[in-house]
Formats: sequence, C-alpha cells, structure tokens
Amino acid sequence: MNPQKRYAVCMLAAEVAPLSKTGGLADVAAALSKALVAAGHDVRLFTPAYSSIDRAACAARAVPNLQKLRLTVGARAFVFSVLRGKLPGGTPVFLVDCPALFARASIYTSDADEHVRFIAFTRAALMACGEMRWAPRIVHCNDWHTAFAPLLLRTVLKDEPLFATTSTLLTIHNIGYQGIFAASQAKDLGLAPGATPLLYSPDLAAGQINALRHGILYADAINTVSPTYAREICTSEYGMGLDDSLRVRSQDLSGILNGVDYEEWDPRIDRYLPTHYDPAHLAVKTRLKAAFVARLGLDPDPAIPLAGVVSRLATQKGFELMYETLPRVLSQRALNFVVLGAGETQYEEFFSALALRYPGRVHFHQGYDEELAHWIEAASDLFLMPSRYEPCGLNQMYSLRYGTVPVVRRTGGLADSVRHFNPEDGTGTGVVFNDFDGPALEWALNTTLDLYAQPAPWARVVRNGMECDFSWQRAASEYLALYARL
Ligand code: ADP
Ligand code: GLC
Repeated sequence: MNPQKRYAVCMLAAEVAPLSKTGGLADVAAALSKALVAAGHDVRLFTPAYSSIDRAACAARAVPNLQKLRLTVGARAFVFSVLRGKLPGGTPVFLVDCPALFARASIYTSDADEHVRFIAFTRAALMACGEMRWAPRIVHCNDWHTAFAPLLLRTVLKDEPLFATTSTLLTIHNIGYQGIFAASQAKDLGLAPGATPLLYSPDLAAGQINALRHGILYADAINTVSPTYAREICTSEYGMGLDDSLRVRSQDLSGILNGVDYEEWDPRIDRYLPTHYDPAHLAVKTRLKAAFVARLGLDPDPAIPLAGVVSRLATQKGFELMYETLPRVLSQRALNFVVLGAGETQYEEFFSALALRYPGRVHFHQGYDEELAHWIEAASDLFLMPSRYEPCGLNQMYSLRYGTVPVVRRTGGLADSVRHFNPEDGTGTGVVFNDFDGPALEWALNTTLDLYAQPAPWARVVRNGMECDFSWQRAASEYLALYARL
C-alpha cells in the first residue's frame, strides 16, 4: 500500500461488540474497524469504559500518559483515564474510563446528564488524540452520541494544530435516535459566545437542541448504512424531522451497505454451534434444527418449518404487523416460531401471550442472549423482519449465510440485501413484501410457507442466499473511497 494512503482514523462509537452492545452499531463499529486495520490503516477506536465491560477479557491496560486527565463539561469537572485493550481478532480499542459517567446500570440512560455523558466522551477521545500527539486524518462519528464532534472541531478545538487537516464523517445508523435535549443544555458544549450562531436556531426556538442535526450540518460528509435508507431519510416519511437538513447536505450524503463479520457469523465456523455446515452439508442444519426444537419444547415434527426472530423489540421493527397476522397463520398452517428479544412492553406482552396461546408452537425468550441468537440463525428455516424502517439490518444478512430464508419488508437495507425469489427463473434470496400492513406480511408468510412445501425451489432460494457475499472488505473499501474524497 502507498504509505501516504494510510489513514489515521479516530473512530468514535457508543457501543462496540463484544464489549458493549444493544444493537447493530456495536457489530459495525467493531467489524469496520477490524476491516480497516486489516487493510493497513491506523484506526483508534474509542468507546466508553462502561462498568459492564469485562476489562480483563479485553486485556485492557492503562495508557501511561492518558491518566487522570481533567475535563470540564458545562459546570461539571471530570477526571478520566484511557485504557487500551484488544477486541477478538486483535483490533485495538481505547476505553474512556470515567466512572462518574459510565458506571451506570445500562449503556444508555434516561438520566438528566445523558447529553453530558456523550459530550464528555467525545471531548475525552479528542483530548486523548492530543495527549498521544496523534493527528487523525478522519474523525469518524457514529450516531448522535458523537455527532457534536464536527461542531466542536470547528469551534472549541479550531485552533488546535493537531486537527488542522482533520476531516469528519458522520455515519447515521438510525435516525430514530437523535439525542434531543433541552435548549438550556446547549451551554454544556462550551462554545464561545461568537460560535453560538452555529447552533440550529429553529430547534432552539422550540426549546430543544438536537445532537444528530449538528452532525448532519457540520460533518464534512454524512453517510448512512444502505443506499436505499440514504434516499429514504431525505423524505418527510422517513427523515424524522431531519429531512430538511439532510436535503441541504444531499451532495455530501451517501449510503454504504454494512457488511457481515463472517468470522463471527458463518455456520462453517460458528463458535456457538456444536456442528458446522455449508451449502453442501445442509443435513447438518436439519439436525441442528431438530436439537433446537427439542431444547425449546416445540413440536418436533421435522416437516414443520421453524420461523425465527432476533431483535430489539422496538417500534422500528414493525412487530405490530404480527398482532393479527401471526395468530391467524399459526391457526391455519403448520409453523413453529421462536422469538428472542427485549424492549418495549407492548411487544414483550404480545409475544408472551402468543407463547401461552400456542404452547409447543411458539417460544419467546425475553432478554439478550448471544448464544441463542446464533442458534436461531442456524436452526430456523425462515427469519422475519417486517421493519417499519431499517437503516441496514444485519440479521437478514446473517440469515442468508445460514441458509435461513429472510422474509422482509422492502425498506432501507432490507431492500438492498434481499431479492424477492422468482420461481420462474430461480433467482432471488428471500421473500420481500412492500406495504407496511398486516395483509402484506400475511401474504409474505403464506408465500414462504408455500415455497417451503416445494423442496426444489426451497433448496434453490436457500442456496442462492448462502452464496451471497456481504463481507466487510467491500464496505471498508467504500469507506476508504469516501475518506479519500474528504
Ligand atoms: P438494530 O441495530 O436496529 O438493533 P441490526 O439488525 O442492525 O438491528 O442489529 C441487531 C444486532 O443485535 C444483531 O447482531 C442481533 O443478532 C443482535 N440482537 C438484537 N437483539 C438481540 C437479543 N435479544 N439477543 C441477542 N442478540 C440480539
Ligand atoms: C441501527 C439500525 C440497523 C443497522 C445498525 C448498524 O441501529 O437500526 O438497521 O443495521 O444500526 O448500522
């Protein structure tokens, strides 16, 4: 590689797998960093040292000149240190250790100082770059938590020579989470009076400040995690109030489909499975299904297809489409159903009630469970993602690799990664429906179950999916091309 093309990337992420994870951001922060490091780039991935992180497991050690640093955010003064650890696969990770902010019961909180936690994290990571005398060519922000970095670099840090040639990229993983706080909290950014006109005044007038909006306004480039979602968020239907600012920046907005970390998610080597398979050994998948169905206490008849869900139980994911559809399909057709997830009460209650109503047919595991997630991908025949919106979605791509046919709504990254199966010519990798309503999901489920009943086309759609390649190499090279334009 041309040494001049070796990028110094300061990657800022509120979640990093496997240290801290509530959803796909964690997978992406880890896997993109790993792919960039493998391509020879100098990536320093920063994340908060939440108290839930097992420091020994990632071999975290104090960085000598990054100890007991002082930082002020608004009226509060903090002392923080930085630990250096390693992710599986060797990617270095820098943990910002500030117990006053990150020793809490969960990664995200509804505490009054939530904005302070992430402004402090962002400032601390940039301070650490300074202390290391390390000049990042790119500060790569992810989601609202670190979206104030571009504004801070233009204001509070504008005279810092270390950042003289630094460009910023904001990756939007989910526009549904924007970091909206009371306008009075804006003072915690520490802007000089002359810089306050840079704050977005219509929001301030409405009594708010929106972290993600400032990232959109001030990052040198913005991307989101699929080309379709990049188009969708410029519309009022999907933009969640930020579409006006996104349209202003449309020249600098692009979509890069996430990849899959096939060292973590591949049935050939999956560390959670006792036996492994590939397209030539699908009998192993059948045996894994039998074992799993027995473990869950579901109807053991091997002819019954197993549908799976692994998800945050959030409005985004479209579960209300199942309220009427699933009971009807379960009453009419042979189908077993396993759900793993936690989140909003209404969905937890729906799945709990469904499991009670269909004992031996429906299993609901409420909670977060990495091992079970892998088993569901491997053992299921089909995987449901009826999302209302989906910036990218990872599970449908995992499903493809595991020969588990994805049933998805045509939106965001689902539209970009799953092609509807055409029995005429045998092309396509899943079942894709358009409308966000119950009848469309019911059509998709019945279409999938009809297909399952025909061994030859079913085998075809399974194999088509298993042949897809969504590896991070492609996505990482798209990010590098984007860095090169900044
Ligand atoms: P999102 O980021 O919107 O939650 P993605 O599909 O991008 O959606 O990523 C979700 C990730 O989180 C996947 O790796 C999925 O397996 C994992 N996940 C979600 N809920 C659970 C759960 N309850 N237990 C284990 N893993 C989960
Ligand atoms: C998000 C999105 C999901 C995406 C993930 C990683 O939380 O909801 O669609 O795959 O981030 O980019």
